[in-house]
Amino acid sequence: MKLAPSILNADFLFLGEALKMLDAAGVDVLHLDVMDGHFVPNLTFGPPVIESLKRGFSGSLEAHLMVSNPDTLLKDYVDSGCDCILVQVETTPHLHSTLQSIRDLGARAGAVLNPATPLSFIEYVLDDLDQVLLMTVNPGFGGQSYIPAMDRKIQELKKMRGERSFQIEVDGGIKPDSFDRMHSLGVDLVVVGSAIFGAEQPEESLAKMQEQLRGLA
Ligand code: DX5
Ligand code: ZN
Repeated sequence: MKLAPSILNADFLFLGEALKMLDAAGVDVLHLDVMDGHFVPNLTFGPPVIESLKRGFSGSLEAHLMVSNPDTLLKDYVDSGCDCILVQVETTPHLHSTLQSIRDLGARAGAVLNPATPLSFIEYVLDDLDQVLLMTVNPGFGGQSYIPAMDRKIQELKKMRGERSFQIEVDGGIKPDSFDRMHSLGVDLVVVGSAIFGAEQPEESLAKMQEQLRGLA
């Protein structure tokens, strides 16, 4: 199981230092929470900032698009350096075509489901997915608590995946004490935000998490 740190709760005055820390720790996926203040009641950053982040981080970038009308923005996010585009299924009526467009742009295509959104939303696009991200909090802010009902949803998704190879990712309220359970449920990638950047010593917290994850491999 791999770690995808989210910088949402990092100190935006020192983002460069945060990326250096992640790079030095060998983190190879950075989770970027893009929020437009419309689909979610928060506003973060877009392509201009991501272009700079790309120069400061040697791993891959995944853009979690919590935005309305993502179809018009896909190329901007790929051009800014995103290797994976994660689209909330609630924001596009044309999910099959959206996923195809992301792949046509050369990026990995992911679907994100909010806690209440049923897995049936992706039932007919399972072969068009490189990643499925299950929100385990309501999107918009870091530092929230994990929604326990999501355990069953993760298990159902693992069953639904069958022999396919898309990655199962969870996002929101994930702390080190839930790593073992996430691993046993079949999670491949965990997004962690405040447990790193909200910690007294982010570098130390990160190192401990990576140690724990190595033990799970
Ligand atoms: C919430 C974001 C999450 C969040 C995770 O809308 O999608 O990625 O930043 O942060 P924590 O780990 O603090 O819940
Ligand atoms: Zn996210």
